[in-house]
Amino acid sequence: MTKRRATITAVGHYAPPKVLTNAELEKMVDTNDEWIRTRTGVSERRILEQGATSDLAVGAIQKMLAHRKIEVTEIEIIIIATVTPDMFFPSTACVVQDKIGASNAWGFDLSGACSGFLYALVVGAQFIESGTASKVLVVGADKMSSIIDYTDRNTCILFGDGGGAVLLEPSEDPDYGLLDHRMYCDGSGGAFLYMKGGGSLNPSTHESIDKRMHYMYQDGKAVFKVAVKGMADVSAEIMQRNNLKGEDVAWLVPHQANLRIIDATADRMGLDRSKVMINIDRYGNTTAATIPLCLSEWWLEGKLRKGQNIVLASFGAGYTWGAALIKWSLENPTQS
Ligand code: UT7
Repeated sequence: MTKRRATITAVGHYAPPKVLTNAELEKMVDTNDEWIRTRTGVSERRILEQGATSDLAVGAIQKMLAHRKIEVTEIEIIIIATVTPDMFFPSTACVVQDKIGASNAWGFDLSGACSGFLYALVVGAQFIESGTASKVLVVGADKMSSIIDYTDRNTCILFGDGGGAVLLEPSEDPDYGLLDHRMYCDGSGGAFLYMKGGGSLNPSTHESIDKRMHYMYQDGKAVFKVAVKGMADVSAEIMQRNNLKGEDVAWLVPHQANLRIIDATADRMGLDRSKVMINIDRYGNTTAATIPLCLSEWWLEGKLRKGQNIVLASFGAGYTWGAALIKWSLENPTQS
């Protein structure tokens, strides 16, 4: 029996209009444009001035639905990858379900930090592959500005807000869609990238606020060392498992944490820079949104072709990391 595969049949993204430039950050913390660009690749990032992560998700979903004209009531499952849910509960998936009117859907949030979208994509694909569902909405969205300490130059220069959405459906041709994945986590990395406050371990108190425990913390140097190896290793692994060489891969879609990590991954895969999706310069690190944001922009620009091998790769808090291989099946928007 041929395998029922999940494939991406629609993509969309939303970036809020407010731009926060490196020049503006120079006025807020002791940093400079040259340092930020050479060390990270970021020139500017977007900030959601009003609203919450669900609004980023809904913005991306609406753009997606403008291209794939299904009834919203056809959506069966909504998975929202985020570390900045609107609230602890109800889930942001429930908030989104209500806002878009997906009255036949159930859903949940998935906490996988910067690997959240990849984790959610793989989870969503299981529902398609098992025959449980035929329309699964997978979203990566984060309002990072809600947990960033804008007095901490180590983190505030890196992150931005954004959302990206994909629709998973069964592939008509089993050779297309999500072909393979390798996912990892290593909880011993938790000490280097976290937000300590607000959970059951450290509930919100005046003291937790005074200690700035409701902001994200990152030991950048420590994370860099493992991220650069982790993302390159898992990307090489997914190529090896599928007998792919650099020339067989059309695009690398890397998590956008640092241009130097992206470059190292591309080198390890034997990929020319022209085959790597990079928009960190314009958005910074939008955590769960980076990968769908890239996919959506590149698709809209008509750069993706049916049959292309695309490798998605990420590394983030947890530590969590992974890679997935997709044979792209969605026609170019200029042809559809
Ligand atoms: O997405 C989740 C996973 N996260 C990542 O993958 C991020 C991984 N880490 C990184 O991307 C990098 O480590 C950073 C971009 C966060 C930092 O770059 P770095 O090259 O590792 O810099 P560093 O932390 O080693 O700092 C170098 C110097 C230090 O000064 P001294 O001690 O050498 O005098 C820092 O104090 O740069 C200083 N510095 C800054 N200078 C200007 C740190 N932040 C800034 C800043 N502006 N914003």
